[in-house]
Amino acid sequence: MASEKTVLGIESSCDETAAAIVRIDEEGRGRILSDVVLSQVAEHAPFGGVVPELAARAHLHHVNDIIRRAMEGAEMDWAGIDAVAATSGPGLMGGLLVGMMSAKAIALARKVPFLAINHLEAHALSPALVEGLSPPWLLLLVSGGHTQLLAVEGPGSYRRYGTTIDDALGEAFDKVAKMLGLGYPGGPAVEKLAASGDAARFSFPRPMKGREGCHFSFSGLKTAVRTAILGLEGLTEQDRADICASFQRAVAETLADRLGRACARYRAEHPAETSPTVVIAGGVAANRALRASLEAEAAAHGFHLAAPPPHMCTDNAAMVAWAGALRLAAGTKGDPLSTPARARWPLDPRAEPAIFAGVKA
Ligand code: KG4
Ligand code: ZN
Repeated sequence: MASEKTVLGIESSCDETAAAIVRIDEEGRGRILSDVVLSQVAEHAPFGGVVPELAARAHLHHVNDIIRRAMEGAEMDWAGIDAVAATSGPGLMGGLLVGMMSAKAIALARKVPFLAINHLEAHALSPALVEGLSPPWLLLLVSGGHTQLLAVEGPGSYRRYGTTIDDALGEAFDKVAKMLGLGYPGGPAVEKLAASGDAARFSFPRPMKGREGCHFSFSGLKTAVRTAILGLEGLTEQDRADICASFQRAVAETLADRLGRACARYRAEHPAETSPTVVIAGGVAANRALRASLEAEAAAHGFHLAAPPPHMCTDNAAMVAWAGALRLAAGTKGDPLSTPARARWPLDPRAEPAIFAGVKA
């Protein structure tokens, strides 16, 4: 590579407004110079989930200040920025437009390239920034919006092994928490309560377990939880804990089953790799019980499990700046300022659709 490059990244695809500055050096190593994330959790909590219109307004309200803080945190002036990268999909349209318009305005004013970044690609490539890993690796991305198994071959090159045919896993955690009156976001609350529960009390289904392929489904499990709640006359604290523990156990077994199949496929497609890596990312990857079960499954297949620190697993702009920096280092001149936001933007357009009981994902 010719010289080091410094990229401003902006993330606004869901309910985090974030900006970060990342530098890539001549050897292709990355360094985070600043990383600012503003979570809108408190704004959405009364509604039990992200409200797109509220999210868009909050992004617009905060984005300039977050960018200013990222610039100050890196002690950077505009002359030091070589490109501006913004998440351009997939995600909520209103939020994407806010981040993209900010990035385009800066790019136009400063005469530097604008880079439209795929949010999933940013998650997929972040282990190279924080863990110093080099592709390929197998990625399990489990967040409020995504549940995917992907072989990450390198920037721009992905094979999707599996996706969810209905709810994302984080969404299932949030819905179960809502049914139990635990508040939003539900995942951490479910994990906490599960620690004092009996995971054997309710025999919830393990959706897709034992099936061919690597796809996921969580709506049946959610319905089973609802049915169990309706079958009890009022919920005691112990009932709640037992439901959380039983639900989490069902999720852990399902994830392990799907991961095991993905490991086998990855091995067959990468015969030269002696010590392959599984990376887990997304908010749900913060769950310790799930991590433990995934780690055991990965080890059983001879894989090493890498889990970036929680703040890099969840939505942030450092991963967006990094995805942009990699493209810049590879010689891109940037994307047109007419680039649209994309609510859907699959990483592997050739992936066969997940079809189960007539439903496509
Ligand atoms: O990646 P993330 O911060 O945001 C996006 O969805 O993009 O993920 C948030 C999701 C929420 O659904 C939240 O309930 C879930 O991750 N989550 C957890 C845990 N912490 C966060 N789920 C299970 N266990 C946790 N400890
Ligand atoms: Zn995300």
